[in-house]
Amino acid sequence: MIRTLIEKALEVQQNSYSPYSDFCVGAALLSEDGQIFTGCNIESVSFAPTICAERTAIAKAVSQNVRAFTMIAIVGKKRNAMQKEINYTAPCGVCRQTLVEFCQKDFRIILAKTVDDYKEYSLEELLPCSFSPLELLDNKQK
Ligand code: THU
Repeated sequence: MIRTLIEKALEVQQNSYSPYSDFCVGAALLSEDGQIFTGCNIESVSFAPTICAERTAIAKAVSQNVRAFTMIAIVGKKRNAMQKEINYTAPCGVCRQTLVEFCQKDFRIILAKTVDDYKEYSLEELLPCSFSPLELLDNKQK
């Protein structure tokens, strides 16, 4: 499954709309029921409306009423980078917080350069001590 997710992330990365940064990101998000939702970054001339690849994928899933996820693969690179210049791309802070909204602590985050070269983290590792939806529940709901 990791291989498939990375392949899908690499595929959707090609759709990245990033004329201002030239940094192309692709993400493939696996839902608990086995569906894959992909996303790329979409930039804006006024910058602030830019949305990251990860949140594009989450928005696509949630708008289809899918809210439970197990894993995401993320790839990123400068548009014309040589393979040897590609690094692991970690999710930004806003995307980490958005993942906390819908994912458990053991949600798996795959940062990939290629299908065979990747690192894996849990959401808890990348956003420890997070402010989660649990905080707003009443004690008896917990
Ligand atoms: N970007 C993502 O798509 N995901 C991240 O987690 C990091 C940043 C995008 C946003 C912007 O279009 C470009 O990368 C440069 O910051």
